[in-house]
Amino acid sequence: MWYKNLTFNANFYTLYRIFSAKSNKLSPFSVKTVVSQLSDLSKKAQDKMNSVNNFAGLLEFEKEFLGKKSELAKISRDLKNLPAEEKKEIGQQVGKLRQELTTFISAKKEEFSQQELAQKLAGEWLDVTKEIPRKKGTLHPISQIQQKVEEVFTSMGFEIADGPEIETEWNNFDALNIPAHHPARDMQDTFWISRENSDSHKNYVLRTQTSDVQIRKMLKHGAPIRLIAPGRVFRNEDLDASHGNVFYQVEGLLVDEGISLSHLKGTIETMLSEIFAKKVKVRLRPGFFPFVEPGFEVDFSCTLCEGKGCKTCKNTGWIEFMGAGMVHPNVLKNCNINPAKFSGFAFGFGLTRLAMMKFGIDDIRHLSSQKIDFLSQF
Ligand code: DAH
Repeated sequence: MWYKNLTFNANFYTLYRIFSAKSNKLSPFSVKTVVSQLSDLSKKAQDKMNSVNNFAGLLEFEKEFLGKKSELAKISRDLKNLPAEEKKEIGQQVGKLRQELTTFISAKKEEFSQQELAQKLAGEWLDVTKEIPRKKGTLHPISQIQQKVEEVFTSMGFEIADGPEIETEWNNFDALNIPAHHPARDMQDTFWISRENSDSHKNYVLRTQTSDVQIRKMLKHGAPIRLIAPGRVFRNEDLDASHGNVFYQVEGLLVDEGISLSHLKGTIETMLSEIFAKKVKVRLRPGFFPFVEPGFEVDFSCTLCEGKGCKTCKNTGWIEFMGAGMVHPNVLKNCNINPAKFSGFAFGFGLTRLAMMKFGIDDIRHLSSQKIDFLSQF
């Protein structure tokens, strides 16, 4: 490196020799002292130059060799004690050493700031074109099942209907043949929004079932009608692994001339066989729901053990699935449909329960956990 070729060493020795030989005006000792000081100093500086490897080191070096208290500053001050001739000679050498040190320091400063900049740039480098691996989102298991159910029913000519979650007491209960004080209201613990009125059209509930959509749609469109209504329902219940306050149901309704229970059974068997991608059998047991007559509990053959009996079906070979029946004449009348001309079936099942069955989810609370690790499994 350039600074290894410092030239002043040789010159100092030359000067030293000259002064020691010829000068009798000045004590040769003083000149000798200055010259050897300069020589030592230049050697010392040269030794240290190699170990300066950062800014802090460089500042220290600068302070040591060029600072106010440096030896060089002291020698400069002492120059005045030398005779004019020597002062000039040695002064030049001092100037030269100072110049070389200054050049070294500023070159190093430049080198370090370049290094620092390069490091900074390397650290801040950002490849905006780089492809970042992202976790792909998936549809919530309930949405997946809902889509499948909608697909199957639309292929059978059903329409997808919707209704509000805040519902009148009349649509949620009265029109469905569940008048006030009817024991069936106790089956569905209700979140009341307002309950001051004697007119049930003016009291509001968070709907406890999607059956209310039957009423809205029959009132609006009359018969014939064929719909399913998937949606969210609310019950004021204690929570456990299989009960939630909020869950999803699908209501089904078909009203036309000459509709019988066999249509209901065939429709449900078709839907379940599509969902589970295998032949599923359905059986009806008598059950009571005020809005159907006759009413049934509908079970399907256990898809895990194929009807042989397992833990999931409690060794019965059947899974309890939903309520259904033939639409009660009172309900048809409430919706201005003539029960002498039209008949229909209705059913309602828990979409949440179906998703749990389909995906083997054992606790309803997982479904509202919003945990990515859980949800990304489906
Ligand atoms: N709405 C009932 C419930 O939430 C389910 C139901 C039962 C719907 C029988 C129906 C039906 O349409 O016919 O428990």
